[in-house]
Amino acid sequence: MSIRRLPEHLVNRIAAGEVVERPASALKELVENAVDADSTRIEVRLASGGIDLIEVVDDGCGMTAADMALALERHATSKLPDDAIDQVSTMGFRGEALPSIGSVARLSLESRVRGSDGWRRVVDNGQVVEEGPAALPPGTRVRVEALFAKVPARRKFLRSARAEYAAALDVVKRLAMARPDIGFSLEHDGRRSLSVPPGQSRPERVAALTDRELAENSVTVDLAREGYVLGGVAGIPTFNRGVADHQYLFVNGRPVKDRLLIGAVRGAYADFLARDRHPVVALFLDLPPAEVDVNVHPAKTEVRFRDPALVRGMIVSGLRRALEEAGHRSAQPVATDAMGLWQREVPADQSVQPLSSVELPPHHLNLWAHSGVADGRAGFSVPPMARAEPAFASLPENSSFPMGVARGQVAKTYIVAEAEDGLVIVDQHAAHERLVLERMRRALDSGRVAAQALLLPEVVELDEPGCDRLEARAEELAELGLDLERFGPNAVLVRATPALLGGGDVKGLVADLADELAAFDQALSLKEKLDAVAGTMACHGSVRAGRVLSVAEMNALLREMEVTPHSGQCNHGRPTWIKLAHGDIEKLFGRK
Ligand SMILES: Nc1ncnc2c1ncn2[C@@H]1O[C@H](COP(=O)(O)OP(=O)(O)OP(=O)(O)O)[C@@H](O)[C@H]1O
Ligand SMILES: [Mg+2]
Repeated sequence: MSIRRLPEHLVNRIAAGEVVERPASALKELVENAVDADSTRIEVRLASGGIDLIEVVDDGCGMTAADMALALERHATSKLPDDAIDQVSTMGFRGEALPSIGSVARLSLESRVRGSDGWRRVVDNGQVVEEGPAALPPGTRVRVEALFAKVPARRKFLRSARAEYAAALDVVKRLAMARPDIGFSLEHDGRRSLSVPPGQSRPERVAALTDRELAENSVTVDLAREGYVLGGVAGIPTFNRGVADHQYLFVNGRPVKDRLLIGAVRGAYADFLARDRHPVVALFLDLPPAEVDVNVHPAKTEVRFRDPALVRGMIVSGLRRALEEAGHRSAQPVATDAMGLWQREVPADQSVQPLSSVELPPHHLNLWAHSGVADGRAGFSVPPMARAEPAFASLPENSSFPMGVARGQVAKTYIVAEAEDGLVIVDQHAAHERLVLERMRRALDSGRVAAQALLLPEVVELDEPGCDRLEARAEELAELGLDLERFGPNAVLVRATPALLGGGDVKGLVADLADELAAFDQALSLKEKLDAVAGTMACHGSVRAGRVLSVAEMNALLREMEVTPHSGQCNHGRPTWIKLAHGDIEKLFGRK
């Protein structure tokens, strides 16, 4: 076999494999080019999620006819004037986006430099098919049509127009957040879904593009160290979400999805949030260009730092510091090992025996590994809020219930109960979540889950892809007791919620479900994902952490746990209750 150089059109198509994965990635390249052209306004139009058409119009510097010919050639770029690839300050620098897109679609490029005439050049799957004068205002208009129409292997992997649109919207949002000085608009199938004016401040832009409630539920991050600057906003821990999609991270003005940064954010919040909850953040890290290599990923979404430890440290301490200052507004750090604290109270000269007989629900043999406080919504550093309601009023004092009789509630999160053989502590939220799942399973087995109509239907505002996903699953959600319908482009109208939730936070529930549906495989029915759906629902039901329960409510929960299968673990596998036997209590006090 002899070695040969591949022809240009094939090289471009191979490059396209990396750069142009889906419509959103082609769109990203075009918007980045418009940003690099010093535009003040960038307009994006899409048809069918970008599969049929992507159009990007800018009012930037434009290109001459000669430059347009070059721009469609591989490795032709205006962005590395002195070959300094370690000093890149533009979004692009590889000189391969346009030729790559042109090799897998019909690409028409129209451009006009201020003071001269416009020109058009059209490339269809690698071949120049049209060229000539064009009439347009100064700037550039790029149209990409029939993406992958002639690349069946790629076309097959495209998801629905709806899913592609969601990805495209995310791309525009992130780039718009990176550049508040530029105005952006996005139109999909003739409807405008995003519009931000030029000349906004960074906080204004972040507020315009994220959850409207983030502004009141976030703190400002601001930290400078050794020429690195970290700024932005961080949602307080209680303002959390079910997926990590609401994290916007930027390095030197470039939106990135970098593992180091994501890990650092997770680490900063680790003590405040349950493992399955995610914070909302928009963080901007600026550092000298030589400190970061942006040329490690064809789509430039990952970067490599010269000093990863410094970057991680900045993010963790920047976030922690900001969150600490907001401590009064949010959950306090959680004691890492509640049981360990108990032990430390034992005088030093007395050696501590491990609590051998602490009783745990099945599968939880190691108390120490599971004794962290769930949810982070309340911790042991808040003053204890045990209440001594007359628990004996309605219950036989001498009870033989395995889960015991409720004696009080601690930190509005834990039920303390007295059983015949010891002290039972129940995580009310985790337990309720499990009970809801089991109830829902039973209800589904016997038909439909009962829905409870809301007195007034509630309008919940969400982003458009979120509404699309809920609308697409509306029938299945109705079977689970959640009745909702589309209400304009950016809202749904909720008419009823599952009766077994007993009311609760409708907006939070619907927003979380919309997020979660994005992560579900479309081929799977919601029933197959019941654990996740029920868990999300239960999370927003009436018995969440932080809610004061009456003694009757506490006892009702205990009784239901006794008769419900699997009630010993919550849907995430954590224990829902622990029991300290009398012998263990005696050991703690050195009586044994
Ligand atoms: N909207 C635009 N306005 C003005 N010039 C543009 C525009 N789009 C592309 N160009 C010119 O075409 C060149 C090639 O664009 P292309 O996106 O292929 O490569 P690049 O941006 O230089 O690098 P990368 O492949 O990393 O994006 C650019 O360097 C720029 O000079
Ligand atoms: Mg480019």
